[in-house]
Amino acid sequence: MSTVLIANPKGGSGKTTLATNLAGYFASRGRHVTLSDMDRQRSALQWLERRPYKLPLIHGQDGRHSYTNSLSADWTIVDSPAGLRGDKLKQAVKDADLILVPMQPSAFDMGATRDFLQTLQEEKSVRKGQTFVAMVGMRVDNRTRAALALQEFLAQSGFPCVGNLRSAQVYALAAEQGASLFDIRPSQVSRDLQQWAPLLHWLVNASKQK
Ligand SMILES: Nc1ncnc2c1ncn2[C@@H]1O[C@H](COP(=O)(O)OP(=O)(O)O)[C@@H](O)[C@H]1O
Ligand SMILES: [Mg+2]
Repeated sequence: MSTVLIANPKGGSGKTTLATNLAGYFASRGRHVTLSDMDRQRSALQWLERRPYKLPLIHGQDGRHSYTNSLSADWTIVDSPAGLRGDKLKQAVKDADLILVPMQPSAFDMGATRDFLQTLQEEKSVRKGQTFVAMVGMRVDNRTRAALALQEFLAQSGFPCVGNLRSAQVYALAAEQGASLFDIRPSQVSRDLQQWAPLLHWLVNASKQK
């Protein structure tokens, strides 16, 4: 049983996209998944409400006040709001086994994320190696200057970068339908699925070390 917190105080960095697709992945592998939504905008829970009943089941949880690990869940994926900081951030970090920080390659995003990463580094459970943190590049289009700047930023972040996902319309299309990339015919999204492999590998490995 592992709890994965998806966090970055910058709005629009890709938290809900990462959270819903991860939940979809583990559900597609027959795992018991709880998707906990700390955001009062409820984007992740609304995605779940749109999810067709024929797709693998994901349990929704309102995580605004606290999120408890549902004992029956193999994976609890926690989507968090923009501006997460202070005691709420501390508690969320404490409750997580693994943390993923999605980030887009823009100067605005790097500026907003820098202080957050510093805060994470200083958290006791992170310092003690009890909580693992990794970065994920979102909407990264290789061979652009912005992508290069992001890689440099990530290399200095002190956390491993475990994936870079390109910008693809399929993320928005799937989101509209309550689906994840893993609910779509693989041949239609093969390039994007490939990009998820290192990230999924890291998560599964890191969860075994807990
Ligand atoms: N890899 C991607 N390709 C295309 N669009 C993306 C990608 N990642 C995120 N988006 C889009 O970016 C927007 C913001 O993402 P979202 O996950 O809602 O961010 P957050 O939850 O951090 O506010 C959404 O419209 C989402 O569909
Ligand atoms: Mg969101």
